[in-house]
Amino acid sequence: MFINNWYVAAGVDDLKNGEPMFMRMLGCDFVLFRDSKGETHCLSDVCCHRGASLSKGKLKDDCVICPYHGWEFNMQGVCTKIPALGADVKPPKRARIDSYPVREKFGWIWVFLGDAPEEERPPFLDDSWFPEYYDEATWRKVRVQYHAPVNWARSEENSIDGAHPSFVHASFGSKRDPKVHIVPVVTHEWGASTTRERTPPDRTQKSGAMREITAEKRGKTKATTAFCFTGVTHRIEILRADGLRQVTLSHRTPVDEFNTRTFTTQCRDYLMNEEFDRERLEGRQKAIAEDIAIVSTVRPPLPPKSTTAELLTEADQLETAFRAMNRRMEAKGWEIDSDEVEREVRRQILVIPSPKRLTDPKNWVHKTVPTTRPRGYLTSQSDATEAAE
Ligand code: FES
Ligand SMILES: [Fe+2]
Repeated sequence: MFINNWYVAAGVDDLKNGEPMFMRMLGCDFVLFRDSKGETHCLSDVCCHRGASLSKGKLKDDCVICPYHGWEFNMQGVCTKIPALGADVKPPKRARIDSYPVREKFGWIWVFLGDAPEEERPPFLDDSWFPEYYDEATWRKVRVQYHAPVNWARSEENSIDGAHPSFVHASFGSKRDPKVHIVPVVTHEWGASTTRERTPPDRTQKSGAMREITAEKRGKTKATTAFCFTGVTHRIEILRADGLRQVTLSHRTPVDEFNTRTFTTQCRDYLMNEEFDRERLEGRQKAIAEDIAIVSTVRPPLPPKSTTAELLTEADQLETAFRAMNRRMEAKGWEIDSDEVEREVRRQILVIPSPKRLTDPKNWVHKTVPTTRPRGYLTSQSDATEAAE
C-alpha cells in the first residue's frame, strides 16, 4: 500500500450533513465530516488524548467532539478545548491530530493521504479521464461501490488483465478466441495504456435487452484500457463494431492489505432509458462477483515483489507495466512497511503522515506509519537542516 496518493473515501452522497463518518483506508482510521459551509474535511479518527474514535462523537461549530472526554478538534485537527482542564486553559501544542486535503470529483470524495509537497504528488484526475461523466445527453450512467476481501493490487491487476474475461466472465470475453492482441504499451510516469482489438463474445452469451440489440455477426471490438496511480484508477473504453460504446472508470482504495473498496461509474451510449439501468447494474454485479471469486483464490494474497516468482508472459503486458509503476513508487519511499506496522500495531497508533508534518514535524502524539524506504523529500529536507546547522 502506498501513501502520497489521492484515494476515494466515499460517494459525495454518502456523507450526511451534521454526521461524522468513519472510514478505514491504508489500514488506518479516518473521520470525514462537512462543515457549516458544506466543505468536506478528513481527520485521523484516533483521538490523541486516549485513543477514542472521533467518528463516534458529535459535530459542533465546525469541530468534532470526542465522545470520551469531550476534547474539541477543529477542521485543521487542532484541539481547541479540553473541558476537564476548564475554559481558561489553552490546549498544549501536541493536542492535535492529522488533517488531510479533500477534493470532490466524478461524484466521489477524494482524500490525499500523505505528506509529499504538492509538486511531488501524483496529478489529480482531470476531466479528460472521464469527459463522458459530464455529457448526460449522450451517456447514461450507473454507479457501483463494493467491498472485496482481496488485496488492492491483486484486484487492480485483474481489472486491467485482457486475458481473463474469456475464462472468468460468462457474458463477455470470447470463448472461441481467447488470444490477447499484443500491442505497444504506452507508458508514462504515473501509468500506462493499451488499445487492443478483441473478438466479441457470441450473442448467446448475452441476455435481456443486450441480446436484443446485439447483431448476429459483427467485427472486432476495440478496447482501450488505461490505468494510473492516482486513486488506483483505470478506464476501460469499449467500442463495438456496431458502434455501441461503453466507458467504465474505477478507483480502488485499500482498506488494508487484505480488503479493498472499489468505486466505479459505467457510461453507455445505448439503451439510454432509465428502465435499462437495472439490467446494466445486474450485469456489473455479476461480473464483480465473478472477479472476486477468482481473485480471492490467488496466492500469495499480495503480489510477489520478485519478477521471477510468477511467470508473466507477453499477454500480461499491462499487468507488468502496473508492477513496474508500483516499483517506481516503492523507490520513492512511498510504500507502507506493513510487516513493521503489523508488529507494532497492538500497542501503538500509527497514522498516515499529513502535509502539515512536512513543515511542522515535531509535537505530534501519534507516530506515522513506517515506509519500506526513506522518502526522498524528507531526506533532502533533513540534509538541508543539517547543512544549515
Ligand atoms: S479520548 Fe478523546 S477526549 Fe479523551
Ligand atoms: Fe473481470
